[in-house]
Amino acid sequence: MTNTESGHQSLWYDAESDTVKIIDQTRLPHELVIASLNSLQDVCIAIQSMQVRGAPLIGVTAAYGIYLALREDGSALESAIQSLAATRPTAVNLQWALQRCSDRLVSETVEQRPGAALELAQILEKEDIAVCEAIGEQGARVLQEIWQQKSATQSQLNILTHCNAGALATVDWGTALAVVYKGAAAGIPLHVWVDETRPRNQGASLTCWELGQRGISHTLVVDNAGGHLMQQGKVDLCLVGSDRTTRHGDVCNKVGTYLKALAAKDNDIPFYVALPISTIDFAIEDGHAEIPLEERDAEEVLTLTGKDESGSQQRIAIAPENTAVSNIGFDVTPSRLVTALITEKAVVPATAEGIAGLLD
Ligand code: MRU
Repeated sequence: MTNTESGHQSLWYDAESDTVKIIDQTRLPHELVIASLNSLQDVCIAIQSMQVRGAPLIGVTAAYGIYLALREDGSALESAIQSLAATRPTAVNLQWALQRCSDRLVSETVEQRPGAALELAQILEKEDIAVCEAIGEQGARVLQEIWQQKSATQSQLNILTHCNAGALATVDWGTALAVVYKGAAAGIPLHVWVDETRPRNQGASLTCWELGQRGISHTLVVDNAGGHLMQQGKVDLCLVGSDRTTRHGDVCNKVGTYLKALAAKDNDIPFYVALPISTIDFAIEDGHAEIPLEERDAEEVLTLTGKDESGSQQRIAIAPENTAVSNIGFDVTPSRLVTALITEKAVVPATAEGIAGLLD
């Protein structure tokens, strides 16, 4: 487990109470609240409301949702899979985890299913931690290479990241931020530019929280500042996560990622994507045509949520009432803008050949 003030993973199973515990990410950064998930419905609400979020974490949480459903009714496998699959559309890790549950559990008897489902969820939890740590190690070597070229002329390596692809988006370690944590542990003096990531501000509330917990130097910027920072020579590389990557290397991630990749290309700055192989959707080629992009509630754009002077959480309106809103949650960065994919197995080009090599 990474060393955080909370001492917790983003999610864990508490055997004593037979419940699933999560860090409620809707309450960060101002309050560290641990919530208990006791039923399939609790899990569906937690994923939809983004108490848990981030592609890998959604997948592992769903596997525990299957356990909680089967604990109530061992014959409810198919309906539980359907309910969980409908919670969020874009991150393919959700379908990936549900497929693994289906493959493993369908041939079990109704009586055996709860035990087998719990065992599988615990395996997926452990796998996620190991995979993310391995991504961090692969990526740290990339950082070392870049730092070797830069260290003669500058005092720190500047990384720009978007959204939260950290420990909070996975069971532990993270994807893009696992690279940061392993790079820092290897002695590279790192500084992270954190995009605030409107509308839900995962950068401001989650990435800044976890970088602060781990003592990583970071600066919060508004989403539109990245291009300017790149023009000023203040960004050495971009490093983001992904919710779904096609077998040809198109990368779907939190909306705004594409604009950073365009700016990076214009400024000759490498643009890396860190992701587990479970985030690659081998069934699809074209990210624009084939990835379902989540559209979320208008309220997320029309309002801001934060802490007021008295310390309580408040939501305030920032636009005229009834303003028309488009709230697309994700965008697709074409593979030609991606320098490489950092996976748990290898760092590969974002091409059909590079990705196919991961299956060997
Ligand atoms: O809407 P969210 O907060 O679930 O979106 C998360 C992201 O876009 C992350 O960058 C992505 O899941 C990669 S996380 C390891």
